[in-house]
Amino acid sequence: MNNVLLLPGDGIGPEVIAEAKKVLLHLQSEYGLNIELEEALIGGSAYDDAKDPLPDATLELAKQSDAILLGAVGGPKYDAVERELRPEKGLLRIRAELDLFANLRPAILYKSLAGASSLKPELVADLDIMIVRELTGGIYFGQPRGIRTLDNGVRQGFNTLVYDENEVSRIAHVAFRIAQKRNAKLCSVDKANVLEVSELWREVVESVHSGYSDVALSHMYVDNAAMQLVREPNQFDVVLTGNMFGDILSDAAAMLTGSIGMLPSASLDKNDKGMYEPIHGSAPDIAGKNIANPLATILSIAMMLRYSLDKKDLADRVEVAVQQVIANGLRTADIADNHSAIGTSQMGDAVIEALSQ
Ligand code: IPM
Ligand code: MG
Repeated sequence: MNNVLLLPGDGIGPEVIAEAKKVLLHLQSEYGLNIELEEALIGGSAYDDAKDPLPDATLELAKQSDAILLGAVGGPKYDAVERELRPEKGLLRIRAELDLFANLRPAILYKSLAGASSLKPELVADLDIMIVRELTGGIYFGQPRGIRTLDNGVRQGFNTLVYDENEVSRIAHVAFRIAQKRNAKLCSVDKANVLEVSELWREVVESVHSGYSDVALSHMYVDNAAMQLVREPNQFDVVLTGNMFGDILSDAAAMLTGSIGMLPSASLDKNDKGMYEPIHGSAPDIAGKNIANPLATILSIAMMLRYSLDKKDLADRVEVAVQQVIANGLRTADIADNHSAIGTSQMGDAVIEALSQ
């Protein structure tokens, strides 16, 4: 029996999680998936409830669960809330508290969606990149940080970009192991021409590489990587990078696939306990309208089955079902192109129907 915690969050989060829950319940009743579902508040909805974006009760449930499925957090409603209590802080804290340092963000192009990519179809044909982003260190968490007033009365904002060699080494091991299971090509992205942190990063990645001689390692500066991603994305297999560079590059990579509404992610600790979430945000502008795409969240279930619940066969089934509904021409508005769009819940139903076949 595995405990799975659902954290719907804000914006379109509750709608996409509702569809994912239907899929999980279906896997439970039809395929004997042995799980118990719980649900808790995070982000703005938790702030509204208890003035805390990550209430103790949620953190406790998260610690006890075997896997977590998160919708999204945040929204303009919370722009004026002090930084420590913003919805995003709840997400950053749960990542840190659970030590979910390894963030896997696949960017895969579904053939029939090539037209939705912002790049020419021939550039993104068969696109399949895995971005491995360090998630609990770097400038997101480095101390000191803050806004101070200098002696001359001028205010100054400051953050600290730090990585120690253990942090680099553990994420590098994850990336090399993933590369071994894919096309054995790893590109480590840094800014070693300017930053000492990157100099150390490179050195550590090089030394970890000695244990993975079957993987071809290259290094690239982040500015060049951003350019190469939109110039010739198929040159990449696995991309390893730090927290902030990974945040930026994974959004760019996502857009290459046509829709950020299609992409799942996993954030894992050293034992492969994980939190799974669509990489899109809370999209407050379309929240509550039953038009959001639930497929990224449903594909996050597939990642959960694969990485944390050890159910590879069910993971394959979910992915095949999603491919099936796309191949059948079913589209939510974000990927509609010249199809007519169906709603969030209709898309969830379609996946369940495809799973039943
Ligand atoms: C992401 C998001 C988060 C991040 C925000 C919401 C804190 O952009 O998961 O990529 O920057 O990590
Ligand atoms: Mg981001």
